Amino acid sequence: MRQIYLDYSATTPVKQEVLEAMLPYFTENFGNPSSLYTTGSLSRDAIIKAREQVAHLIGAKDKEIFFTSSGTESDNWAVKGVAESLKEKGNHIITTMIEHPAILRTCENLETKGYRVTYLPVDQDGRISSSQLADAITDETILVSIMTVNNEIGTIQDIPELCRLSKEKNRNLVFHTDAVQALGNMPIDVKTWGVDLMSISGHKIYGPKGIGALYIKPGTRIANFMHGGSQEAKRRAGTENLTGIIGFGKAAEIAERELEGHIHHSRELRDYFIDQVTRRIENVTLNGSREHRHPGNVNLTFDFIEGEAMLLYLDMNGIAVSTGSACSSASLTPSHVLTCLGVPLEKIHGSLRFTMGDFTTKEDLDYTIEKLTEIVARLRSMSPVSKEKGW
Ligand SMILES: Cc1ncc(COP(=O)(O)O)c(C=O)c1O
Repeated sequence: MRQIYLDYSATTPVKQEVLEAMLPYFTENFGNPSSLYTTGSLSRDAIIKAREQVAHLIGAKDKEIFFTSSGTESDNWAVKGVAESLKEKGNHIITTMIEHPAILRTCENLETKGYRVTYLPVDQDGRISSSQLADAITDETILVSIMTVNNEIGTIQDIPELCRLSKEKNRNLVFHTDAVQALGNMPIDVKTWGVDLMSISGHKIYGPKGIGALYIKPGTRIANFMHGGSQEAKRRAGTENLTGIIGFGKAAEIAERELEGHIHHSRELRDYFIDQVTRRIENVTLNGSREHRHPGNVNLTFDFIEGEAMLLYLDMNGIAVSTGSACSSASLTPSHVLTCLGVPLEKIHGSLRFTMGDFTTKEDLDYTIEKLTEIVARLRSMSPVSKEKGW
């Protein structure tokens, strides 16, 4: 059966070039980068190169990149590390209601330890208001953490502007952005953006899973999170994930080289898909911003039917999509992101996320649209709600 993968925001396949760069470091050059003999120094050199590749993609210096085990660890480190380091200066943290659970659950954890957290709401498009952010900042605010691109609805925030404004209000606070979904999908430049901390992850840019990084601007007050050996310039203990780091580096190099083409390709497919689905299927709404949107994200609500049923039928036809974020798809609790946009509960349950990437073709989308049209019609013909509405 034809297999169509439309869940690139959950994860991406490792590119062949990335795999080939990694392979020798599993079996031949497997030395511990901390060892003093030759295989150790080969591993060290490979890490130096990967750090440069990752740094270059976001406009950072290599010394400002610290490898972690994931985007989740980077987010935890950013939030907990700043909270601990600046606890004498204040106990107030600002974030948004639509962050990834890696930020939300971490902030909730800090609330149990006496920190005060403001969760900013978003407008219908999923954008936060700069005046609301400015109003929330006080002398007690030590950290502002706002994601660059939302993983469910693809909304892009104006991070350079939000960072500038935050620092204008309180120049001592630390500004963090979770750029996991932004990496490789838009140009990023930490220097012109002005952020102090940025979380990124390998497996969203055709690199391996289980490798992430935290960008730390020099001088940023942030306590260590992992304690142990003196790896990562004594900032993050633990024997380096050598192959993961090399894969992340290679993926970053490719992402930078192909950024423009990748964005153009994804955007064309995204717009084609939105146009065709909304034309061919009635009572469908696009969630999130049309303008400020991840180039490969389509989040749609299909009235009168359940997203889970659609997902299963699509899966039976070899098509992989997601209901909400990958992390929450195992539970049936309604998406917190769509809830924040004001989407009514019954509509949230009829929502699906389709995310496109480098290996998606127009033919894939045509096949998906054909199957989706049939599935929606079938489910609606069985749905008591659509019967009630005279469908
Ligand atoms: C916005 C965002 N932040 C953080 C993460 C977590 O990254 P990782 O899967 O590397 O832990 C994800 C993953 O879906 C994400 O989309």
